[in-house]
Amino acid sequence: MPSSEAPSAALAVWLASSRDRRMSQLAEFVAFPSVSMDSQHVQDCHAAAGWLAQRMCSLGIDNVEVSPTGGLPIVYGDWLHAPGAPTVLVYGHYDVQPVEPHAEWDTDPFTVVVQGDRISGRGTADDKGQILIHLDAVEALLATTGTLPVNLRFVFEGEEESDAEHFDDWVVAHRDQLRSDVAFVSDTGLFEGNIPAITVGLRGLLGFQIDVYGSPVQLHSGSHGGVARNPALALATILNSFLDDNGKIAIAGFYDEVAELSPSAREQLEALPFDDASYLAALGVDQSVGETGRSLLERRGARPTLDVHGIWGGFRGEGLMTVIPASAHAKVSCRLVPNQEPGRIAELVRKHVSAHLPSGVRVEVSSLGQGAPLEVPTDSWVVSEAAAAVGSAFGREPVYVWEGGSIPACEALGRLLEVPVVIMGFTPPNCNTHAPNEWMSLSCYEFGLETVVRFLTQVGVAAQ
Ligand code: BES
Ligand code: MN
Ligand code: MN
Repeated sequence: MPSSEAPSAALAVWLASSRDRRMSQLAEFVAFPSVSMDSQHVQDCHAAAGWLAQRMCSLGIDNVEVSPTGGLPIVYGDWLHAPGAPTVLVYGHYDVQPVEPHAEWDTDPFTVVVQGDRISGRGTADDKGQILIHLDAVEALLATTGTLPVNLRFVFEGEEESDAEHFDDWVVAHRDQLRSDVAFVSDTGLFEGNIPAITVGLRGLLGFQIDVYGSPVQLHSGSHGGVARNPALALATILNSFLDDNGKIAIAGFYDEVAELSPSAREQLEALPFDDASYLAALGVDQSVGETGRSLLERRGARPTLDVHGIWGGFRGEGLMTVIPASAHAKVSCRLVPNQEPGRIAELVRKHVSAHLPSGVRVEVSSLGQGAPLEVPTDSWVVSEAAAAVGSAFGREPVYVWEGGSIPACEALGRLLEVPVVIMGFTPPNCNTHAPNEWMSLSCYEFGLETVVRFLTQVGVAAQ
């Protein structure tokens, strides 16, 4: 397609000459420790939002606003000077995960270090780097063509890594202002082997905390052991009741709404170039677990899960303090797949916990947020354009991937704005998101930038 090939020569020159400047902008953005789940970092989140708004203004994006939500703000901006062309809404999140365990970082998490192809720092991959890929694409297009091929709206959230509590309400309140033809999200990565990927499934998430209480005071286990129920053991009983021996979740009714993959989706998934053994070796685990009779890729992306993220309670100091703790606690989540409804599953979880609670203790189950699963149809015109953009930037077609992670905004944008969603991200598959030593590769960054430029160009052309 000549119109999408046209910018390449100029683009290559622009990419090379602007690279150092773009990397120092990324370093500035990463330097804000915008950890949204930590109330100590509220100011840092606001500062990151302010920096982003400034960057958007300097690009010539209009109506830039750090928009209040009741929680952390959403940074909005638009560029609507392509009359008759489609409007693309770009979503990303400027908040990041905590850096614990801090001691395991080889370099400072909030100082970008570029070594060869590796750009290290918290948020370089998830998702600050990918936000800047989109903004750099705007700059690249303006610099090389003088205009943009489509209208654009930018919606950058600050609560994605906590619970996205205010996102839906904000979108509803701004629904008219957000009218668009497609939502484009880069918050995922390449498939194993650095193969570009379009995400066709995202799991939903349901988080909850279980608190088990016994005696109001910590008891001597010699004086009272064998009499008073131990809350830590009671919690273990509850947690142990969640999975059966076949790796299935043993909560009554849990699978009632679970949609099976369509035959064509299953075929696509099983055809992915993927080696279970080398994947497991890279994780450092010696075997896989989970539902019997389902492939690893299906279990990882298209089946529901239940995981425990943390357990605490009682004595953890040096030596042995012989107590029966007064309480014990766990943080738990379920990944959900189409057509599981988070609210309904939350009810089933509560019922299950009550039914499996040993006598002599009290339990509380509280919500830690939820998001719905999403399936993206592959036959939409925008997915075709995205695939074509990858094809021309990378020289091969993308694979279609069921992603096990969750991005609640993708489902919310599709539902509330009634737009197709394209989920195409550019991080390397082993980029340590949420872990120490998160990194993005320079080559993935540049590939992403070129793909976004081509995608926007083709969307503009396709509509003519
Ligand atoms: N970018 C991730 C989603 C993701 C995870 C994409 C893994 C590709 C692979 C996103 O920022 C994220 O971390 N989502 C959270 C959900 C949130 C409610 C904490 C997740 O998946 O745990
Ligand atoms: Mn993310
Ligand atoms: Mn994340």
